[in-house]
Amino acid sequence: MRFLKTAALAGMMAGVVFTAVAGVSAAYAADVKIGFVVKQPEEPWFQDEWKFADVAAKEKGFTLVKIGAEDGEKVQSALDNLAAQGAAGVIICTPDVKLGPGIVAKAEANGLKLMTVDDRLVGADGKPLEDVAHMGISATKIGEEVGRAISEEVKKRGWDWKNVGAIRVSYDQLPTAVDRVEGALSVMKENGLPEANIFAAPQAKTDTEAALNASTVVLNKNADIKYWVAVGLNDESVLGAVRATESVGIPSENVVAVGIGGAESAINEFKKPSPTGFYGTVIISPKRHGYETAMNMYAWLADGKEPEKLILTSGQLALRDNYAEVRKELGIE
Ligand code: GLA
Repeated sequence: MRFLKTAALAGMMAGVVFTAVAGVSAAYAADVKIGFVVKQPEEPWFQDEWKFADVAAKEKGFTLVKIGAEDGEKVQSALDNLAAQGAAGVIICTPDVKLGPGIVAKAEANGLKLMTVDDRLVGADGKPLEDVAHMGISATKIGEEVGRAISEEVKKRGWDWKNVGAIRVSYDQLPTAVDRVEGALSVMKENGLPEANIFAAPQAKTDTEAALNASTVVLNKNADIKYWVAVGLNDESVLGAVRATESVGIPSENVVAVGIGGAESAINEFKKPSPTGFYGTVIISPKRHGYETAMNMYAWLADGKEPEKLILTSGQLALRDNYAEVRKELGIE
């Protein structure tokens, strides 16, 4: 009996040694758990992010734990949960960037390596927590791209900026949202949009319904304006503005709205039989934000390779007639 136990133990050890020599990463990967927490799991962008993170998990053989956390309390319990499951790292798009210091502390207490995606954590002073590795979009540049696309179309349609109202669907508690819409508006102002024609439509949440409600108020208050353009932090926000123009009876040819995202929400709109006021979108890459962040986290855990502190990804404008090609080019079909 004793001999058997010893033999078994020796065998196990030999097994361990063997794996350690022959297949370190395979043996190790199976034990690695990485959490991917997102603020709005029902939004196509986040679904796609998860999808591409799953590709990384499959490729490397680690376990990806996907959790939706719509508020601070859920974030706290997600981090506790992950630790209890033996996760070693977490990538998060937080529902509120001001939770920053709390998230950092909680991750540390739970022994979780932390990276953020999309929305960058801020400290009590409102400044980004630069020590936390982050991947986000180059918000101002992408916003400017939106502004250029709208400006060109306004010109093409021969509208006088004096008669154009701009809905600024806003979510100003989120810095990337401010940078996106300000980028867009700066270009439109350079092209002739009067400051007085910009109307803030503050949304309570970054989804279509909230944007529709906020935009309807703006349109009802300014019923004399004939032409409308709309910007927001994502496709859902801009679609809310477009739905609002429809609900008050503004013809679609009098509306030029350009979103940011390029996922299912935009695709469904482009697939409609006739064009709506949703003129285009700047497609960003859920592949980079999902696959690459997950790969970077894995490299950190498995090889001790620290991720870059800040990666800003780019976007590409797509319209109704070329969105499929652009998605293909970006490898996100
Ligand atoms: C924010 C928005 C999302 C998406 C990402 C992209 O989190 O809420 O809709 O645009 O940024 O980074």
